[in-house]
Amino acid sequence: MLLRIAQLFQPDELTRIRTALEAAQWLDGRMTAGHQSARAKANLQLAEDDPLAREIAEAMLDRLWKHPQFMSAALPHKVFPPLFNCYAGGGSFGYHIDNAVRQVRGSAERVRTDLSATLFFSEPEDYDGGELIIQDTYGVQQVKFGAGDLVLYPSTSLHKVQPVTRGARLASFFWIQSLVREDAQRTLLYEMDQAIQQLTRDVPDHPSLVQLTGTYHNLLRRWVEV
Ligand code: NI
Repeated sequence: MLLRIAQLFQPDELTRIRTALEAAQWLDGRMTAGHQSARAKANLQLAEDDPLAREIAEAMLDRLWKHPQFMSAALPHKVFPPLFNCYAGGGSFGYHIDNAVRQVRGSAERVRTDLSATLFFSEPEDYDGGELIIQDTYGVQQVKFGAGDLVLYPSTSLHKVQPVTRGARLASFFWIQSLVREDAQRTLLYEMDQAIQQLTRDVPDHPSLVQLTGTYHNLLRRWVEV
């Protein structure tokens, strides 16, 4: 399932974030790529321990952890600390599948990458190219969302970033280990949860809501890994 989580940040916050990122110390993006994907990657990144990166990452995760749609879709268990990248001057990242396991820098913590996420900081009209192309179960998806929007997709997907031929594309990307490993199971739970939320709004006193909610939790209990 590919999902858009809209407007995690407001326009004034995005302006402040972009201004800070534009003045940041950017490094060669190949430093976090695996041996093979380093050959396909041409972009800039902030160091993992860059204070600005840590500050924005903390704000992002704070918003996401309070976001019902994100929590329902991702069922997050662990997250790899968000990284930041900049594509400009023809920079791109060819087709690849993200590494299955990520080690958190300076810690023994390892994160299995079940879900990949990209949060866009640049407005689409401020750069040409830079589409995130994802080969989804249902075909090829082309993602170029507004500033402040996040795309969530299974890390098993083949994906690439098209060359940015004008302007700059600033974004954050990170990985989530979900409580539910399989995308198909997570998708069923998400759809069921969304339907229960809708019924709770429309017919809050319906007696079957108790049973339905219980069934959701009993399915989650079967599939959850903690
Ligand atoms: Ni990737």
